Amino acid sequence: MKSIVTKLKQLNLTTGLFLKPTAVAVDIGTAMTRFGLDEKGIVLREPTFVGKNTRTGQILFFGNEAKDIYGKSPEYVSIIKPFENSIISDFDATVALISELLKKSIYPYYRSHLIKKGLAAYATVPTNSTEVEQRALQEALIKAGFQHAYLLEKPIASAYGADVPIFFYQPAFVMDFGAGTVELAVITMGGIVASKVLKLGGDYMDKLIYNYLHLKYGLVVGEQTAENLKNKLFALTDSKEVFPVRGKSLENGLPKSVRVTASDIREALAVCVNQIVDGIKELIETIPPEIIDGLIKSGIVLTGKMAHTPGLDKYISNEVKLPVIKARKPEDATILGIMKLVSEPESLKRVIIYS
Ligand SMILES: Nc1ncnc2c1ncn2[C@@H]1O[C@H](COP(=O)(O)OP(=O)(O)OP(=O)(O)O)[C@@H](O)[C@H]1O
Ligand SMILES: [Mg+2]
Repeated sequence: MKSIVTKLKQLNLTTGLFLKPTAVAVDIGTAMTRFGLDEKGIVLREPTFVGKNTRTGQILFFGNEAKDIYGKSPEYVSIIKPFENSIISDFDATVALISELLKKSIYPYYRSHLIKKGLAAYATVPTNSTEVEQRALQEALIKAGFQHAYLLEKPIASAYGADVPIFFYQPAFVMDFGAGTVELAVITMGGIVASKVLKLGGDYMDKLIYNYLHLKYGLVVGEQTAENLKNKLFALTDSKEVFPVRGKSLENGLPKSVRVTASDIREALAVCVNQIVDGIKELIETIPPEIIDGLIKSGIVLTGKMAHTPGLDKYISNEVKLPVIKARKPEDATILGIMKLVSEPESLKRVIIYS
């Protein structure tokens, strides 16, 4: 028996056996990385953050751990976000993070398998990504431990994960509002008709809040505090909520508390919200009238975690005169869409990027 096992293992090592590799859905977002497996569902959600020892270059912290110490780490640890505006900004940090997250979430399922089939990554890229950026992601995935890496356009996956029928004549408009980008796309019959990527995601909004507090209250806060404020108070409604924050006084550097209001946050982000609405209008202007007609029925589907912003759907709908529907699980739409496509080989073939 033992010799059969050894032989099988040898065969696998030398020939890779003719088994299909295990497909892993991979959504590396600017804020969150998510992995999914067909038979297990979403198996990982961790922040796209690493902590690097600046003296040795070694990566010491990954995901949740790295995000937890953001802004509080000692001088020799630098916290890096390896994705910016939904594309790789630090190749080595991306490889280290994905490799660690694979060990944590995917390998445990397959450790016990007698025959290793290899892993195939199915990951997304923004519609405006260049060939060089696409290759960089594929290389990073292979270096991190995948044997194969396939790419899909992000809005296709997000729309499918939001249960939008993307393979029909009826057009679909998806707006994926994440941390890095607001990605707008009109899809028909599995292909993108028009798209636009705005670098106005949640991370940019956090910076606007930081600047606003600086100017209005003379208050210096950490990036995490600015993000918390956005998530607690940002609403496109007449919310009167208040949230106390602590930071440093710009005047004397001493601790200072301020009661920030929802109307402060609306004011801080008003220009950005208008830029997003203008982006949607500009995209609509480029679409043929027949497609607009179809969109009047199907509307705009909101995905990405920023879609939880109260009143966002109504606000956009009033501005652009189309129905706007928030997806059921907007933050998981991309990963769910990749998983769904991977489980339907015929659909997958139609949307994979061949390069
Ligand atoms: N309850 C909430 N309501 C609104 N926004 C939220 C909420 N919780 C988190 N966010 C914000 O949503 C953003 C993260 O969204 P998401 O997880 O969709 O991004 P991502 O997929 O990592 O990024 P991207 O796809 O743009 O590269 C962050 O800016 C975060 O602060
Ligand atoms: Mg995303």
